[in-house]
Amino acid sequence: MKAFIGLLLVPCAIGLTSRPDEPIILPTLNNTNLVGVKNIAMIDENRLDPFTNNTQFRELMVSLFYPIDGAPSQLLVDQQASHYSGKADTVTPYMPPATAANFDALFAEFGVANGTFSQLFTRCQANAPIPKDLSNYPLVMFSPGAVASRFIYTTIAQEIARKGYIVACLDHSYDALVVEFPDGRLIHGIDIDSRDIVELMVQVRAQDVSFVLDELVWSSLLSSYNINVNDTIAFGHSLGGATTAEVMLYDTRIKGGVNLDGKLFGSMEKPDTRLSRPFIQFGRARNGPNEDQDREWKRLSGWKLELHLEEASHTTFSDLPLLAEVIGLRKRLGRKGDELLGKADGVRALEIMVAYVTAFAEYVLTGKNSSLLSDDGGGRFPEVEVLRRG
Ligand SMILES: *[C@@H]1O[C@H](CO)[C@@H](O)[C@H](O)[C@H]1NC(C)=O
Ligand SMILES: *[C@@H]1O[C@H](CO)[C@@H](O)[C@H](O)[C@H]1NC(C)=O
Ligand SMILES: *[C@@H]1O[C@H](CO)[C@@H](O)[C@H](O)[C@H]1NC(C)=O
Ligand SMILES: *[C@@H]1O[C@H](CO)[C@@H](O)[C@H](O)[C@H]1NC(C)=O
Ligand SMILES: *[C@@H]1O[C@H](CO)[C@@H](O)[C@H](O)[C@H]1NC(C)=O
Repeated sequence: MKAFIGLLLVPCAIGLTSRPDEPIILPTLNNTNLVGVKNIAMIDENRLDPFTNNTQFRELMVSLFYPIDGAPSQLLVDQQASHYSGKADTVTPYMPPATAANFDALFAEFGVANGTFSQLFTRCQANAPIPKDLSNYPLVMFSPGAVASRFIYTTIAQEIARKGYIVACLDHSYDALVVEFPDGRLIHGIDIDSRDIVELMVQVRAQDVSFVLDELVWSSLLSSYNINVNDTIAFGHSLGGATTAEVMLYDTRIKGGVNLDGKLFGSMEKPDTRLSRPFIQFGRARNGPNEDQDREWKRLSGWKLELHLEEASHTTFSDLPLLAEVIGLRKRLGRKGDELLGKADGVRALEIMVAYVTAFAEYVLTGKNSSLLSDDGGGRFPEVEVLRRG
């Protein structure tokens, strides 16, 4: 089943080469805006959760990333695995503790040292005050792969926010590896053991995205910030890519979508489905024809682009390769690491994803064309191939 839905967590060994308990700060791309992050619990009182046999309201966690004022830290430009050095630098744990412990356990059999994930930190500023008026920042929604966690896309979300966007990363309860609530409660993922469950998950996930858009406007916590959800861009990895297409079919607040290396399960599998708003299919280079992708391509009836990233694996479209590099693991794994994580460099892949998602967002929301969206990508990333456009 894991191969069937192209799950994220292929076996790969992540183990620290540094001393235990030594904080490791993940790299950032550019010395521009600072980014704040808030983890927010949401309950949908209009929806019973099918994964609780409809006994409870659907609840989920969202990380909201937003640009904040303030002088960028000196260390922001450090591309190396800069170890924690300056007391003045605010860093934030990459994951909350129980989530980190679950990731340690998940990777333990592949040689991950216990405590690895709790040693990782980002340069997001946890709970930094949200600017009073967010209406000028376009909103980007992100949906993760199944059996993953929104946290393993933190660097992608953070870098997009740094360019002047609000990014809302969702966890979809019961298919995420684990969802950790502020009160310490955990919701673990269920077994994804049938196609019916995958179909159900895509439906529930799409409703989650729409619900979060509603909450960003109406909830008492967020309503005062004037977030404009009517012109939203959505993207997702793996089953999150399918989620993106699914929700776009009925939620017209989302003006464009990007699928990172996902198969489009759900309504996009029905022959008559047409998704008429702009969409990018961004995946691994393929070996020869792929019938699924050809079918999906036909069902995209608006502006569309299919891009391939050379030497990528499924996990390239997450933080995992970057994590492996930062902790010195890729070197240690050698060729095996390349197979599991893809040969593409993690920081470079991050730069590419951020560049394409933001160029696309700008094009869709403001009409401003970018050379990145032309056939040669303006020469900026030769490893990205335009397979077709329409
Ligand atoms: C839902 O019902 C099924 C069948 O009765 C049971 O196996 C499962 O544990 C229930 N799930 C929850 C979350 O209560
Ligand atoms: C990992 O470390 C934590 C905290 O020190 C400890 O509670 C836990 O039992 C350890 N797990 C394993 C599998 O060693
Ligand atoms: C978004 O659309 C809704 C429904 O059409 C409308 O009521 C609302 O005023 C719009 N919000 C903004 C910020 O344009
Ligand atoms: C980083 O900044 C440089 C110089 O301003 C710019 O050319 C480059 O595109 C930026 N990179 C990213 C990934 O934003
Ligand atoms: C602008 O967009 C079109 C259509 O998407 C594309 O074909 C073209 O190459 C782009 N041109 C430039 C200069 O970015």
